[in-house]
Amino acid sequence: MKPSVDIQSANTSVDFLPLLGTDYIEFYVGNAKQAAYYYMNAFGFQALAYAGPETGVREKASYALRQNKITFVLTTPLRPENDMADHIYRHGDGVKVIALRVNDAHSAFEETTKRGGKPYLEPVTLEDEWGKVSLSGIHTYGDTVHVFVERNEYSGPFLPGYKPWSNPHFKPEATGLLYVDHCVGNVGWNRMNVWVKFYEEVMGFRNILTFDDKDISTEYSALMSKVMSNGNGFVKFPINEPAEGKKKSQVEEYLEFYNGEGCQHIAMATNDIVKTVSALRSRGVEFLRVPSTYYDDLLNRVGPIDEDIEPLRELGILVDRDDEGYLLQLFTKPVQDRPTLFFEIIQRKGAKSFGKGNFKALFEAIEREQALRGNL
Ligand code: FE2
Repeated sequence: MKPSVDIQSANTSVDFLPLLGTDYIEFYVGNAKQAAYYYMNAFGFQALAYAGPETGVREKASYALRQNKITFVLTTPLRPENDMADHIYRHGDGVKVIALRVNDAHSAFEETTKRGGKPYLEPVTLEDEWGKVSLSGIHTYGDTVHVFVERNEYSGPFLPGYKPWSNPHFKPEATGLLYVDHCVGNVGWNRMNVWVKFYEEVMGFRNILTFDDKDISTEYSALMSKVMSNGNGFVKFPINEPAEGKKKSQVEEYLEFYNGEGCQHIAMATNDIVKTVSALRSRGVEFLRVPSTYYDDLLNRVGPIDEDIEPLRELGILVDRDDEGYLLQLFTKPVQDRPTLFFEIIQRKGAKSFGKGNFKALFEAIEREQALRGNL
């Protein structure tokens, strides 16, 4: 008899949580109307959908924005004494939901909760005139959650409950941001491996890269990081924890001002970092600066690259190389008054890594900012 292989069950046993990528990122903020304007004007997102009192939602206002494959949702509560208001009181503006696209939100909930995931949202199917969407969710570090979004039978602008939203008089030009490359979590002392285990056991991710405190240290401070990736590599979550140093590390500063664990940065990819960063800078986005001496021996360090050095130096763009190619990257300053969430702009030219060669120059730049805030 011919041996038969049950491909379907073999695949299921390999990846019990197949993910199709990042669906959206939702921020809880003090003033969603103004935050939406900031992301549209400064980062080039377009108005997509709105939910609030005018659409029959009583407790909050949410603005969904989109640029290529990146969807941001800015949400603000309309009253005190609810989870949204508590989140903002404790953390300031920050990331609440990192939503992941799935083909089956019920299975995603079942598979993760039976492996120890703490339920956030029981599976629910929402319907409107554009079809139906199923959602479920589990908790991750701090007060952050993952929502699983199944939207194969939906043709609406965003989610049921949202109405299309646009302003014909205000359509800022896009800045070339394409998709979410990775989202980084900052966790407490000795907590990195706890969350590595969570992503391995509960979500079926694996640890693809590890940076110890020797890889990531300056004269004053250190941190450790492990990069977790799902099976197909569409979703990558580096997890940072502070390490002992002479002074306070950037992760400690984050934990103090965010009042706990949370999302430290979101990396967004572009195909033309010089153009993207020039556009962002001219619209008021502020970036970290490394000393211009960084560029003096750049080509000796990273080898030949396609880009001219001068625009990179002028914009402060960093370059690093690994076995597979190189990458260009740059980090914004925090995007709110608390020194918490910031963004990374990244262009990958073969490299699948995270810019280890830039860590020292970068973290020294962060320390200069920390010192200015009196937090080093
Ligand atoms: Fe990053």
